[in-house]
Amino acid sequence: MSTSPKVFVAGATGLLGRHIVSSLLDQGAAVRVLVRPGADANRRSALAALRSRGVEVTEGDVADPAEALAEAVGDADTVVSVVQGGPDVIVDGQVNLARAAAKAGARRFIPSDFAIDLTRLDDGDNVMTDWRRRAATEYADAGLEVVSVLNGAFYEVMVGFMGLIDWHRGTLSHWGDPDQPLDLTSVSDTAAYTAAVALDQQATGTLRFAGDVLSMRQFHQAVQRGSGRTLELRHLGTADDLRAEIERQAARTQNPFDYVALQYQWCMVTGKGKFAVLDNDRYPQITPTPVTDFVRATAPTS
Ligand SMILES: NC(=O)c1ccc[n+]([C@@H]2O[C@H](COP(=O)([O-])OP(=O)(O)OC[C@H]3O[C@@H](n4cnc5c(N)ncnc54)[C@H](OP(=O)(O)O)[C@@H]3O)[C@@H](O)[C@H]2O)c1
Repeated sequence: MSTSPKVFVAGATGLLGRHIVSSLLDQGAAVRVLVRPGADANRRSALAALRSRGVEVTEGDVADPAEALAEAVGDADTVVSVVQGGPDVIVDGQVNLARAAAKAGARRFIPSDFAIDLTRLDDGDNVMTDWRRRAATEYADAGLEVVSVLNGAFYEVMVGFMGLIDWHRGTLSHWGDPDQPLDLTSVSDTAAYTAAVALDQQATGTLRFAGDVLSMRQFHQAVQRGSGRTLELRHLGTADDLRAEIERQAARTQNPFDYVALQYQWCMVTGKGKFAVLDNDRYPQITPTPVTDFVRATAPTS
């Protein structure tokens, strides 16, 4: 039976949220989760897995009235938000959740930041980090201690969503200076650090973690070593060229998710979103997986 304070997780059915719940359970925590009603088959199976590990499941939405959300938070001490979405979720929803958590008597709030160093960015650099900073100014007066976890870019995003690697053509394409260091962490290591922070009563402020710090040139070498494949390293243009490409794309669409991957790349390759210091040493029990080992385990074989 767990003796650590209870942790409430919103977004527990998501990519990162599932890993955070799992890490919390591995570290002996009591966990309560918020799950949206009307689950589809995928979410139902995620839920069944959570319940089988002793997780308390409550139904709700971060947009619910504060009374209902406070009831969902219950007796949790720390609220971890791992939600994803537009400003309705990231700003309005998280502010609503933080206020409801305070109403329920929770002490700490870990927002859904999990990014590059958004504290060093300016509005307009990246729409998703803009929303997170806007939310932070609004939940600052909720009466909770806020602890932000930053992890750079997920390895999974660097080898997938970002669109850098084309395994079929055998290329790895990038913008900007190939020698600019980048902060990178796997989803499961980000989850392990987040769980450690959630269970660390002394954790405060913004904590920054990276599983590997590699330049694009070193990332290219790590991917080649891990996959056993030779990939041509292609330079797409300077950071200024990338900024111009983002502006071209932004002028053509109302949907910022169409070009946000390029905004993340700009923030990374300019060094603007780079961590000045890392907090990995605070949790020596966590040994993050290097990029090479991650790619060795996950890269397509042909
Ligand atoms: N640093 C990086 O490279 C990187 C990459 C990806 C993500 N992230 C960050 O990681 C965090 C989680 O992202 P993810 O990829 O795990 O997201 P995801 O897989 O899309 O999961 C989002 C979660 O939020 C829940 N959710 C969405 N709207 C909600 C609402 N109104 N009320 C309650 N729950 C709601 C979803 O529930 P349903 O299951 O009901 O949809 C789901 O559990 C975000 O902060 C994201 O920006 C960082």
